[in-house]
Amino acid sequence: MINLQNITKIYRMGDNETEVFRDFNLFVDDGEYVAVMGRSGSGKTTLLNIIGAMDGFDSGRYMYNDAEVNKLDRHGLEQFRRNHISYVFQNYFLINYYSVRENIELPLIAKGIKRKQRREIVE
Ligand SMILES: Nc1ncnc2c1ncn2[C@@H]1O[C@H](COP(=O)(O)OP(=O)(O)O)[C@@H](O)[C@H]1O
Ligand SMILES: [Mg+2]
Repeated sequence: MINLQNITKIYRMGDNETEVFRDFNLFVDDGEYVAVMGRSGSGKTTLLNIIGAMDGFDSGRYMYNDAEVNKLDRHGLEQFRRNHISYVFQNYFLINYYSVRENIELPLIAKGIKRKQRREIVE
């Protein structure tokens, strides 16, 4: 379950401020599929970056099941990203001198899964 509560997000560059979200709320239940649609610049990428814990926000709360993501420290955030978040990018970001097998295996190595079990998962 993903639950964003009263999220405010402001980008600051010098004197320039862009408020992307003010009191933004989103609830996504387990197993639910959600499509986020909106014109260019409406905040889709910002939203995905927040959900993936790639970027923070200025106020509000982000609950992922029982974890309050905005309270995680650096190590906690690393664990969270590794164990709960997957992105499929538009241009995939596959490593083209790796085989398909090796590309699939890469995040499993980061997770510390042993070779034998990696093989099984990749299969
Ligand atoms: N790193 C950034 N620094 C400053 N402003 C940003 C940054 N990223 C996005 N913005 C601004 O935030 C708004 C939302 O952008 P974005 O989330 O990329 O929208 P979308 O993905 O829907 O096109 C836009 O006005 C954009 O210019
Ligand atoms: Mg975008």
